[in-house]
Amino acid sequence: MAEVLHNPTIGQLQERAHGDGHDYTKGSPHIRHHQIRERVISGVHALVGEVIERNGRCRVLEVGAGHGTFTDHLVAAGAEVQVTEMSAPSAAVLRHRFRNNPRVTVLHDPDGKEIFRSEPLDAVVCISVLHHVPDYLGAVRHSIERIAAGGAFFSIQDPLWYPRRSGLSMNLDRGAYLLWRLGQGEWRRGLATRVRRLRGRYDESNEADMSEYHVVRNGVDEVALHALLQAAFHEVELQSYWSTQAGALQTLGERFAPPTTFGLLARNRR
Ligand SMILES: C[S@@+](CC[C@H](N)C(=O)[O-])C[C@H]1O[C@@H](n2cnc3c(N)ncnc32)[C@H](O)[C@@H]1O
Repeated sequence: MAEVLHNPTIGQLQERAHGDGHDYTKGSPHIRHHQIRERVISGVHALVGEVIERNGRCRVLEVGAGHGTFTDHLVAAGAEVQVTEMSAPSAAVLRHRFRNNPRVTVLHDPDGKEIFRSEPLDAVVCISVLHHVPDYLGAVRHSIERIAAGGAFFSIQDPLWYPRRSGLSMNLDRGAYLLWRLGQGEWRRGLATRVRRLRGRYDESNEADMSEYHVVRNGVDEVALHALLQAAFHEVELQSYWSTQAGALQTLGERFAPPTTFGLLARNRR
């Protein structure tokens, strides 16, 4: 039985949701499905390649790196990477994984403060992270200020803002999620998430409500993020796509369903 936390911080709740032995692959369409994984990897390579061409080097802050699935790609593309993690067990996995790689620095960041520092960077990368950050607009605004001229910002795998989506898009998305949960034998969890979304009531001490913060609320406002980035970068590309956990539904949804998820790649900081 998990210990009850009184007035837990977001960091403690993220750590609960991503504790020892957490499997980042299981519920992550962008790791499981090659169609989405390829989007992420090509974004990473485009970003690092262009920044190195313009600035001669690419110092990246990768926020919430999990177990480092995409850190490997950042490094392979030629970046020097600082990775942060709110979860101490995940930070420990990252430290071990990159212990022999001087191009990677790992920081356990229980308060999510690193993004608010002022040292200059060439790029900020957030892969499946912004929906975990309650004030993601504030975090992105600050991180942009740290990016040097010619630099880049890349975020991907966040749910499109629900109030702008059609009923069809929402229902297909929720139905696919519920089917996947049923297939995992986790119907209780799937239904509980659904009920919480319907009631719009949240428990601030429950990691299920606080970890995937904007998934159980209104999604992430891609238009507001786009506007923030457009004011600071020469080029901003918004990619919207279908994403779901089950492989067969991913393939079907990509062909027939409206998009559920987005990424933003901002190039050439003014
Ligand atoms: C869905 S996982 C994604 C992990 C990894 N980026 C990937 O794609 O495999 C989100 C991760 O972000 C971390 N996280 C959430 N908010 C954070 C913040 N403000 N600073 C650092 N890490 C954060 C969580 O602990 C979790 O490991």
